[in-house]
Amino acid sequence: MEKLRSTVENVLTRSRARSAALTECVDERDLLAQHSPLMSPLIWDLAHIGNQEELWLVRDVGGREAVRQDIDELYDAFKHSRSSRPSLPLLSPEEARSYVATVREKVWDVLSASPLDGRRLERDGFAFGMVAQHEQQHDETMLATHQLRRGPAVLHAPAAPRAQIRAQGEVIIGGGEFSMGTTLDPWALDNERPAHSRYVSAFAIDIAPVTNAQYVEFIADGGYERPELWSERGWAHRQDEGLRAPQFWDRDADGTWWRRAFGVTAPVRPDQPVVHVCFYEAEAYARWAGKRLPTEAEWEKAARFDPSTRTVRKYPWGESEPTEAHANLGQRHLEPADVGAYPIGASALGVQQLIGDVWEWTSSDFEPYPGFEPFPYAEYSEVFLRGDYKVLRGGSFGTDEVACRGTFRNWDHPIRRQIFSGFRCARDVQGV
Ligand code: AVJ
Ligand code: FE
Repeated sequence: MEKLRSTVENVLTRSRARSAALTECVDERDLLAQHSPLMSPLIWDLAHIGNQEELWLVRDVGGREAVRQDIDELYDAFKHSRSSRPSLPLLSPEEARSYVATVREKVWDVLSASPLDGRRLERDGFAFGMVAQHEQQHDETMLATHQLRRGPAVLHAPAAPRAQIRAQGEVIIGGGEFSMGTTLDPWALDNERPAHSRYVSAFAIDIAPVTNAQYVEFIADGGYERPELWSERGWAHRQDEGLRAPQFWDRDADGTWWRRAFGVTAPVRPDQPVVHVCFYEAEAYARWAGKRLPTEAEWEKAARFDPSTRTVRKYPWGESEPTEAHANLGQRHLEPADVGAYPIGASALGVQQLIGDVWEWTSSDFEPYPGFEPFPYAEYSEVFLRGDYKVLRGGSFGTDEVACRGTFRNWDHPIRRQIFSGFRCARDVQGV
């Protein structure tokens, strides 16, 4: 139990350091500004992080008095659209910082008093794990806001690693059942539950995500001009928005593609996974390549299934927590790594870079697993199930390890591309 208590302490501390770094590198005006109608002001995210922590840990788990009941409504994500948040009477940056610090002080008390056992919310420290994942998810959202923000670079990180091995081609995975989702992983969120058996027909899946070089070939081959490559909704969206390349890309007079990332403009790195594409662009590329997107069951089988034992793993490489040698996670770099950069992160089936680098679009709608139960609140997953959302898997360079594993499900509208989204391809195979 004392090991769990210190794990909770470490993950909460790490998360807060990241939230602080993301909000200390810009001035007050920038913290309150709307950098995109798709995003909240950075300072809204910070106070919302504190408010959720207050609701779940101080009031619910701790049974303590409210710190600031009066601001619940302001920081309820369902009460105000992202685009309307800049005009709300938000806490000032100074007030927001002092609010989250006050909440955190109380959480340390609650943590030392909690048995980390007993009722389901507290058992195995679930509520603490959920709150840490929530903070990290908003940190990734804030990172996406930073990417949309104009102006010189304020975030810095070493370049992502280069290839150690050639990561090309595909792996063929025979038809059969595997155990999808999880019942036992203590910090898995409601939509990842419960574990259930899934039959997946034989398929082939790319060893690595689609790279910039491959995506440039698609563009050069008229990929954005050929309606037959796009779904009907995809083509309509391509037309309405005038899409012609991934978001943040620009071509110069020589035909070289440049990308702007966190205030820095540089030529696109050919062997990096493409990032900032929407579901429809991914779908069109896959059709152009004579393939398709994987379903999320295919993705998860490729990531977790060990054919020698017929069991599933938490991560592609096994049960051990990710290190910097396994995957590009945690904003350690501000870009995806080249394909082939993480050979020891491969899955049992030999598929590379499933975790980290870029969120991968799947062809699946966001639906509940058989036996799904909303827990602990309907607004985390349930209200989004069966909506206009596609599932993304695997996490990005901006995802913290606490919010990333082989069962983790992310979702977004198929038109979105301000997230760190890429994809890999799959295809049907007969008779394996
Ligand atoms: C799981 C990333 C889609 O950001 O909307 C944050 C996570 N839920 N606060 C989102 C979340 C509540 C969620 N995603
Ligand atoms: Fe939230």
